[in-house]
Amino acid sequence: MSSVVKLLNKDIQDYINANLNTDLHSLLLKKSPFPEVSMQEIVQQIKGKQVAERKFPFLLKEGIIFPPQLNLEQSSSEKTALYKSGILKGNIFIDLTSGFGIDAYYLSQNFDHVTLVEQNTELLEIVEHNWNTLGLQANFINKKLEDFLKQNQEHFDVIYLDPARRDQQKNKVFLLEDLSPDILEIQETLLSISDKVVIKLSPLIDLKYLVSVLPDISRIEIIALKNDVKEVVVFLSNKNTEEIICSCVNLESGESGFTFIFGEEERAESEYSEPEKYIYIPNNSILKAGIFNLISQKFGLKKLHPNSHFYTSGEKKKDFPGRILEVEPVDSKNIKKKEQFNIISKNYPLKPDEIKKKYGLKDGGDHYLIFTQSKKGKIILKSV
Ligand SMILES: C[S@@+](CC[C@H](N)C(=O)[O-])C[C@H]1O[C@@H](n2cnc3c(N)ncnc32)[C@H](O)[C@@H]1O
Repeated sequence: MSSVVKLLNKDIQDYINANLNTDLHSLLLKKSPFPEVSMQEIVQQIKGKQVAERKFPFLLKEGIIFPPQLNLEQSSSEKTALYKSGILKGNIFIDLTSGFGIDAYYLSQNFDHVTLVEQNTELLEIVEHNWNTLGLQANFINKKLEDFLKQNQEHFDVIYLDPARRDQQKNKVFLLEDLSPDILEIQETLLSISDKVVIKLSPLIDLKYLVSVLPDISRIEIIALKNDVKEVVVFLSNKNTEEIICSCVNLESGESGFTFIFGEEERAESEYSEPEKYIYIPNNSILKAGIFNLISQKFGLKKLHPNSHFYTSGEKKKDFPGRILEVEPVDSKNIKKKEQFNIISKNYPLKPDEIKKKYGLKDGGDHYLIFTQSKKGKIILKSV
């Protein structure tokens, strides 16, 4: 730890704070003005403060030390962590993959006893230092969690895991085996020491695959922030739950959440119709859940076409989890050049950029132009 604590020297901290907006590439080419720390270490702290401003502003305090870039990137954001903290409480909490401890900081707030396990020694030392600085208490265990589990005798109210990707290969099917730890290998052990195991997973993971390989799932949370799906969180329970409750939320959107029973989609059906007064565009947490018929059935909406996820109704269904637009049909001959619209194109031969070019439209403004198809053919709708 001594190597990072020296970064807290007042002159070094003043230098870091004075360079928060300096170009980091040019700073890296300079020689460190302090013999005891390298320029790389200084830049790491500057990057940490920059990321903290965006992702976890509660750490913008005196005496906080930031880890390398990868650990910053792997951390959850304050907003999703806060949401998860609202659905977890108990007495004893353990985070088996602490990382920089952002999730642990929030998730442990409704617990009396907290343990953090992390295999990376330097990272855990930084977390321990920061938690002490923040006046927080926890038991810090620097071990591989598999080794910890072998020796552990304790029972926990909640076990939390946020596994790391083993590699960053793109275009690869996202499997649990690609994560560290491999949940498939430890799920039984975890459920033998806790009734509630909560696992954060990537939004890329396939839900049907998850349900097929994790037999004890009791709940799934699909968490979006401003319509960007950030996390799929699964809850395992050994209480033999027959139904899997699935919740979709879109934080900071003002939209309602939506909860359903996994499998309901298979029994749901949609009716179809030509566009009526209102068009509904589900948010991305609903699209991730794949409940295209269920959403139509639950809200009494009709779908425009089997290949797109636009819905319609004559009366406004206010609680719909997504965007609701009042629309009127437009004849393409009446689209005027240089008009400004947000263009949406789904199940239509031209992409938004091509549409913009063809009709000479400008992007943006308060109104939408939707290019799509109903069962009768191509349609253009304008929001009013
Ligand atoms: C995605 S990060 C966790 C980030 C954390 N949730 C946060 O919000 O800051 C995953 C962490 O798990 C640790 N980890 C992965 N496999 C582990 C294992 N088998 N034993 C202990 N720690 C492990 C990694 O070192 C990494 O720091």
